Amino acid sequence: MTQGFTLWLTGLSGAGKTTIAIELERQLADRDVRIERLDGDTVREGLTRDLGFSKVDRDKNIERVTFVAKLLSRNGVGVIASFISPYRAARDTARQETTNFIEVHVATPIDTCAARDVKGLYAKAFAGELKDFTGVNDPYEAPVSPEITLHTERETLNESVQTILTYLEARGLIPVAEPALSIS
Ligand code: ADX
Repeated sequence: MTQGFTLWLTGLSGAGKTTIAIELERQLADRDVRIERLDGDTVREGLTRDLGFSKVDRDKNIERVTFVAKLLSRNGVGVIASFISPYRAARDTARQETTNFIEVHVATPIDTCAARDVKGLYAKAFAGELKDFTGVNDPYEAPVSPEITLHTERETLNESVQTILTYLEARGLIPVAEPALSIS
């Protein structure tokens, strides 16, 4: 059995964290890896539905997710966690508490995130209708030395996912993909 890991995607809202996490999970499905995906939007409907977006609440959000990731990753599960997780200290705690923590900075610039504005939240934040919105009127502390940095504004989804898969293979955390059969 392969070791567990905690692949932690951090970045602004709209950076592409969830999209990358879902595609990564899909591509890992046929490699015999046990995966659990934890995502801000869904975890906040359950485990952390009592929390908002103050610093205290965001820290509690990440603290609870870290606890879940710790239990799973030490039992051989590959955890894909996608959360804005804007505070460096909270991410560093996750690094210390979980097994094989890998920090992935989804470093999409705010202009690109705001132009995408998939959920319409940037428009509201810029109009002053949303307080404490990350990157607009609330802080985002970028990782200092993440294991992986992704640039979704100039990479395809498949390129971003491949960068992660290559890293996980090199660390021996997932089986190497079998080459596609070529028929001559
Ligand atoms: S975190 O900061 O605590 O890590 P998390 O990733 O769980 O955040 O949730 C972020 C999601 O909540 C965003 O993708 C967005 O849909 C929504 N959201 C609502 N209000 C805010 C806000 N003020 N700041 C950031 N995201 C918000």
